[in-house]
Amino acid sequence: MVKISPSILSADYSILKEELQRLKDAGADWVHIDVMDGHFVPNLTLGAPIVKAIRRVSDLPFDAHLMVDDPLFFVKDFAAAGADSFTFHVESKSDIEETITAIEQAGMKPALAVKPATPIETVFPYLDRLFMVLVMTVEPGFGGQSFMEDQLSKITALKEELQKRNLSMEIQVDGGINKDTIVLAAKKGANNFVSGSALFSQSDMKAAVAEFKSLAENA
Ligand code: DX5
Ligand code: ZN
Repeated sequence: MVKISPSILSADYSILKEELQRLKDAGADWVHIDVMDGHFVPNLTLGAPIVKAIRRVSDLPFDAHLMVDDPLFFVKDFAAAGADSFTFHVESKSDIEETITAIEQAGMKPALAVKPATPIETVFPYLDRLFMVLVMTVEPGFGGQSFMEDQLSKITALKEELQKRNLSMEIQVDGGINKDTIVLAAKKGANNFVSGSALFSQSDMKAAVAEFKSLAENA
C-alpha cells in the first residue's frame, strides 16, 4: 500500500501546528520527523521535546528519522514523546541489535536507514526484525537536494532479498522525491515516500498528495 510521509523539515517551524493540520487535510499518511544531531550530519534540527509538543496537535503516525551518532541514547525519550516508528542509521555508532530491542521494548516500530554510500546488504542481517527499510536517495542532512538515481538498484536488491526470504515490509525512500522521481522509485518496489520541499512548496498540498499517490500506484 502506497504511503506518503511528508517531511516537516520543509515546514514553517514558526507555525508547526498549522502545518500539521495542513498535512492532515492533505491526506498525508504519516508525518516524517527529521532528527539531526550536528555530528552524524552537519545540521541540527529538533528533539523529543518538540515531538512531544506536536503530538498534542496531530493524530497521524509519527515517523521519526534519527540522523544521530547514538540513536540508542534517544529511544526512550522519543517513545515517551509519542513517536510511532523509529528509523536509525546502520552507519550509526549504536549496537544495532540492542537498539532494535530497545525500540521494540519502548513500544515503537524499528526501521533501519542506509546512506547513499552504504551497501544495502548491510541491513540484510536485521531484516526479520524490521518493519521498514529506508533507502536514502540524497546525502542526509538537508532538504531540497536532487534525487540520486544510482540508489534505485538498492530497492531492487532489497525487494529480491525480501522475496527470497518470504518477508514483507515497508520500503521507504527519502530525498528528492517529486512527481518524476516517485515513479522511478515506485517502479522498483518502494511503497513509502518521504517528501519535503516538493510537497511543502505546493499551494494545494491535497492535490499534490493525491497525485503522488496515484503516480506511485500506477507506476
Ligand atoms: C534529509 C532528510 C529528508 C529531507 C527530504 O536528510 O532525511 O527527509 O527532509 O527533503 P526533500 O524531499 O526536500 O529532499
Ligand atoms: Zn528523513
